[in-house]
Amino acid sequence: MSDRSNDIKHVDSALARQTLLDGSLTAPVAGHRPIRILPWLQVVKIGGRSIMDRGRAAIVPIVEEIRKLLPEHRLLLLTGAGIRARHLYTVGLDLGLPVGSLSSLAATEAGQNGHILASMLAPDGVSYVEHHTLANQLAIHLSAARAVVGSAFPPYHHHEFPTSRIPPHRADTGAFLLADALGAAGLTIVEDVDGLYTDDPKTSDKKKPQFISEINASKLIKHPGTLPFDRMLVDVMVNARNIEHVQIINGLVPGKLTAALRGEHVGTIIHTGAGKG
Ligand SMILES: Nc1ncnc2c1ncn2[C@@H]1O[C@H](COP(=O)(O)OP(=O)(O)O)[C@@H](O)[C@H]1O
Ligand SMILES: [Mg+2]
Repeated sequence: MSDRSNDIKHVDSALARQTLLDGSLTAPVAGHRPIRILPWLQVVKIGGRSIMDRGRAAIVPIVEEIRKLLPEHRLLLLTGAGIRARHLYTVGLDLGLPVGSLSSLAATEAGQNGHILASMLAPDGVSYVEHHTLANQLAIHLSAARAVVGSAFPPYHHHEFPTSRIPPHRADTGAFLLADALGAAGLTIVEDVDGLYTDDPKTSDKKKPQFISEINASKLIKHPGTLPFDRMLVDVMVNARNIEHVQIINGLVPGKLTAALRGEHVGTIIHTGAGKG
């Protein structure tokens, strides 16, 4: 009689006899591009401070534009945090709260903004879904509706990296991680500026900031100044697996989102490291 329990213990695995830290050994098994789970999905991140905090003046026009886009695209709309998270950071930092607590608090505002956006689009069948649904049941929701709204904040909570007192993984990073993991068709980041400049176009007292129409994430990583998105986004983009570029657009200008989703270059395009092996 053969010893079945012995067979089970000796599971044949290409990774069984090596450390997962040795890239040359894991690469033949783990080095391939992952499958695209939702290849037709367009992910749109809507800025908290730049769009949602402006209220009616900015939200109503972008909602109208999204409504017209629904027959053309299947969308995952992810909202960021804005002024209320900044207030939470100030109070929490003053009290000495750790970065993971601040991450959880800021994430609640991204969720609030998502609920607002979803309410505006509810007549079109759009609703807000929580993270666990985004992770596991997005396909079924998008079979029932043309778009779904979620929070762009990644669910690191108390697992947030203690590299700074302000959570480094915020809404832009969360939107990118999700879009890349889903193998989405694209990610568009909606801001209140035309895209990326050499310096903040609103506050720079140096010489007039220059518009950057296109750049590689590997070059942007060395940019010393401020950015209109999380710095961590750039680090993550360098190691992307599916999404080849992201476009930053001005959501206060009607028609820009429509054009961006049709593949037109109407803001700043940032190329990721995906597709380079
Ligand atoms: N290099 C830069 N290029 C463009 N905008 C910048 C830059 N640095 C800072 N900004 C500023 O970032 C703002 C967007 O702020 P942000 O916190 O990203 O908003 P949101 O919460 O909506 O994502 C822009 O309005 C712009 O003033
Ligand atoms: Mg931003």
